[in-house]
Amino acid sequence: MKLGLIGYPIKHSLSPWIHKQFLQQINQKGQYKLYETSDIELPETIEKIKQDDLRGYNVTVPYKQAIIPYLDELDIYAEKIGAVNTVVCDNGKWIGYNTDGLGYIQAVKADYPELFTGKKNVLVIGAGGAARGIFYALCQESFERVDIANRTIEKAMTLKSLNQTKQVKTNCVTFEEAEKNIDNYHLIIQTTSVGMNEDVAILSLDNLLHETVVSDIVYQPLLTTFLREARDQGAKIHQGHTMLLNQAKLAFQKWTGKKVSVNPLRYNLEQQLKKDE
Ligand code: ATR
Repeated sequence: MKLGLIGYPIKHSLSPWIHKQFLQQINQKGQYKLYETSDIELPETIEKIKQDDLRGYNVTVPYKQAIIPYLDELDIYAEKIGAVNTVVCDNGKWIGYNTDGLGYIQAVKADYPELFTGKKNVLVIGAGGAARGIFYALCQESFERVDIANRTIEKAMTLKSLNQTKQVKTNCVTFEEAEKNIDNYHLIIQTTSVGMNEDVAILSLDNLLHETVVSDIVYQPLLTTFLREARDQGAKIHQGHTMLLNQAKLAFQKWTGKKVSVNPLRYNLEQQLKKDE
């Protein structure tokens, strides 16, 4: 089973370790190769991947959109989001998928299933690439409302148009409005890179309710400043490495057709991330 990852920079990626564990779970020999590539080398690298006869590969920053013209087909979900994180080679055809949004949903559902019952309110902070997948997946669930807070309100409006369901309501709010009404939300999701290897939080979390779940997709550090503030206020927290594991699990299942579990990997990954802090 030949697998890989394309992106830049990816030297410190955790994906080779994660997929090696999954291969072991299904008793399959295989390799997960890193194709670190610059913009200019992208076409050449994609050609190399084809020659290497991979079953599939992951795509990460900054090529989740740039990869699309090189693919033969897109599944509907990747097409709506406009980004691909997983490619499968099926009978010589390269098909693009996006497992980020559903990976996020599965991660938060595993830890806090109660969020998915009754009519709950969600706040998504950010409107970049990561927010698109997560927002789209949230709108397929039975939430009462999924609001978007973004520094640039126009980008929040663009993201809002991805919600074509009638059941889930969406409002674009400023950071000030979000802070003022923070006690309206059952789940608050930080989807930007703010807080990655830096001691800053994107929003202030005063007036947070204890039952609110605060989630951050940043996993370096594992406990971001945003999550620390939430925890200090007595709220529940959800850490970003669980999304990393679940999007990888869904990609692996697309390549192999076999089910794998993220639970045996979780503790070990937490130790690796804590060591790097
Ligand atoms: P992506 O999610 O596409 O990988 P990103 O840079 O991690 O890229 O995130 C982009 C999102 O982070 C955007 O919502 C961006 O806000 P703008 O639309 O206003 O640019 C948000 N973002 C990045 N840096 C920010 C900061 N310092 N403060 C507030 N929001 C920020």
